[in-house]
Amino acid sequence: MSLYNDHVVPRLVNIACAPSFTEANRKRVCAGLSGRVVEIGFGSGLNVPYYPTTVESVSAVEPADLGWKLARSRIDDSPVRIERSGLDGQSLPFEDNTFDSALSTWTLCTIPDADAALREIRRVLAPGGTLHFVEHGLAPDENVRRWQHRLEPIQKRVAGGCHLTRQIADLVRGAGFEIRELDTFYEEKTPKFFGALSLGVATPTA
Ligand SMILES: C[S@@+](CC[C@H](N)C(=O)[O-])C[C@H]1O[C@@H](n2cnc3c(N)ncnc32)[C@H](O)[C@@H]1O
Repeated sequence: MSLYNDHVVPRLVNIACAPSFTEANRKRVCAGLSGRVVEIGFGSGLNVPYYPTTVESVSAVEPADLGWKLARSRIDDSPVRIERSGLDGQSLPFEDNTFDSALSTWTLCTIPDADAALREIRRVLAPGGTLHFVEHGLAPDENVRRWQHRLEPIQKRVAGGCHLTRQIADLVRGAGFEIRELDTFYEEKTPKFFGALSLGVATPTA
């Protein structure tokens, strides 16, 4: 991690992903989480206020120390037990079948090997467990895609390795999940190249 990625990117994310832009989708994606939950790319804890009462505990996986510090007040205000339990979604320090639910929001764009992270989530989810995700990725429209391909090298540099062209549903299915619910749409108040969202729930295939 560079100084920029350690000290600037977590603050940028805390602002760019603030509830004024993302609240409706955070509420939607968190609905139905239950029991023991693992959240990868926990960031500054922007999902914490939206955990439903059915959540018992959250194991947060986040490499950025500053993200964790920025999350402090949200964690303190939450009735849910939240622990920083890992640093890398690509290699989770948990036994197989540990969790009832998993959560990933605006994170599969940034993790270097998103397929590895999804396979790790699949491994640590108990049978019948659910992965809840909202992620930005490759747009459905060709004219937007062209801009995404042009802008991706810059986006990766300024936004901590964030990709614009990942095919989220394909990644989820490819890692051994069946997608039970999926909504793809452009996020309001967001440029289309950055706001092509996939919001859904998936379960491990048998
Ligand atoms: C765009 S931010 C989203 C943060 C948060 N999920 C949210 O919705 O506000 C992406 C997050 O992924 C984290 N991240 C980057 N590499 C990671 C990895 N290998 N494993 C887990 N998280 C990672 C970053 O530190 C950052 O907090």
